[in-house]
Amino acid sequence: MNPVLSQLGVEMSRLSGVRAIMKDIIETLRSGGDRAFINLSAGNPVVLPEVEQLWRDCTADLLASPDYGDVVGRYGASQGYQPLIDAIVEDFNQRYGLNLTDRNVLITPGSQSLYFYAANAFGGYTATGALRQIVLPLSPDYTGYGGVALTPEALIAYKPELEIDRAAHRFKYRPDFSQLQITETTGCVIFSRPCNPTGNVLNDDEVSKIVTLAAAHDVPVLIDSAYAPPFPALNFTEMTPKFGGNVLHCMSLSKAGLPGERIGIAIGDESLVHVLECFQTNLCIHSSRYGQAIAARAIRSGRLAEISETVIRPFYQQKIAIVEATLDREMPPDLPWFLHRGEGAIFAWLWLQDLPITDSEFYQKLKDVDVIVVPGSTFFPGLREDWSHKQQCLRISLTGSDRDLETAMQRLAQVAKAVYRA
Ligand SMILES: Cc1ncc(COP(=O)(O)O)c(C=O)c1O
Repeated sequence: MNPVLSQLGVEMSRLSGVRAIMKDIIETLRSGGDRAFINLSAGNPVVLPEVEQLWRDCTADLLASPDYGDVVGRYGASQGYQPLIDAIVEDFNQRYGLNLTDRNVLITPGSQSLYFYAANAFGGYTATGALRQIVLPLSPDYTGYGGVALTPEALIAYKPELEIDRAAHRFKYRPDFSQLQITETTGCVIFSRPCNPTGNVLNDDEVSKIVTLAAAHDVPVLIDSAYAPPFPALNFTEMTPKFGGNVLHCMSLSKAGLPGERIGIAIGDESLVHVLECFQTNLCIHSSRYGQAIAARAIRSGRLAEISETVIRPFYQQKIAIVEATLDREMPPDLPWFLHRGEGAIFAWLWLQDLPITDSEFYQKLKDVDVIVVPGSTFFPGLREDWSHKQQCLRISLTGSDRDLETAMQRLAQVAKAVYRA
């Protein structure tokens, strides 16, 4: 069949950004025969035994409880499963000294859906035909934001400032407040903190500045906290989560070991939560209640926050240390390579300044030595201007074994030497 698609149908069925690369990676792995690829492309977290045990225990508890039939056998409220909402309200009020009520929380099927609701509820054309923008204040950022806007022209991202430590071969992105425009035409602001793909953590001042700029125009700011404390706590540097006013604090349980159950959580002003809840009712009614019921148990017991700090964070912190140490040892000091400061998340982000070939060509060369990473150019959604930096970066997933990470970085250094010196 060859059905005629609407404009929206065409837009939504486009293989954009990282999805196109993922297709290539899957085909490479399938057709690879006996080749043992080191696949450092994954965004899937590693299944850690302690984390899996937590979810098993919560499932066993649910199965043994009288709630089970009600949980899986009944529809529930769009806003979410009440015991999960209550657990979040109690945990966050106690942990951060907040005054949340159950009207401040929305549970969604994964946090990706949250960004979809928000991008289209707050961004796009108003009834009077004015375009309200979805602003990404610091590009690169999460590739998934590239697909959420039903009006793609609404998405706009800003180039960052680069803070470069040439001697140490490290760098860090900072928001460029001299360029960033958050105005009366802004519909909402979104950024990830810690950031996928770079591992950057915007500091508390930078966050406050963005939030204040947006508050002046009553613009919601979605802080994508998929890697933030208290769970999965994948921050390797101090950071204070921000709540209140125009901030919608958005979380995900995916990196805390539950990507299959699709649990996203938004905490914010009742008026914002209400808009997104209505969107959700129309789209899918509500998130899986089984996932929500086990999440309620993991949060209420305090075990999720504890395991995040004692198991999940140290696991990835050790991985970034291996990548750093191996690149420091193997990369020639005279080449202009710069690793982004590893401040969180589950990725390393490497910038190869003045790279003589594109990031996609470098990705192909790495495939030739059985290493798979993700070319960086897929992580600049909404940044339309030409910028050579976009073709000079790679995202390296920290989900490999210690040995694989070390081997892969050794091979990457060999390829880099050959490419720069060709
Ligand atoms: C920064 C960021 N935001 C959102 C998501 C989507 O997560 P979820 O599984 O909650 O939809 C991801 C997934 O990788 C992510 O890295």
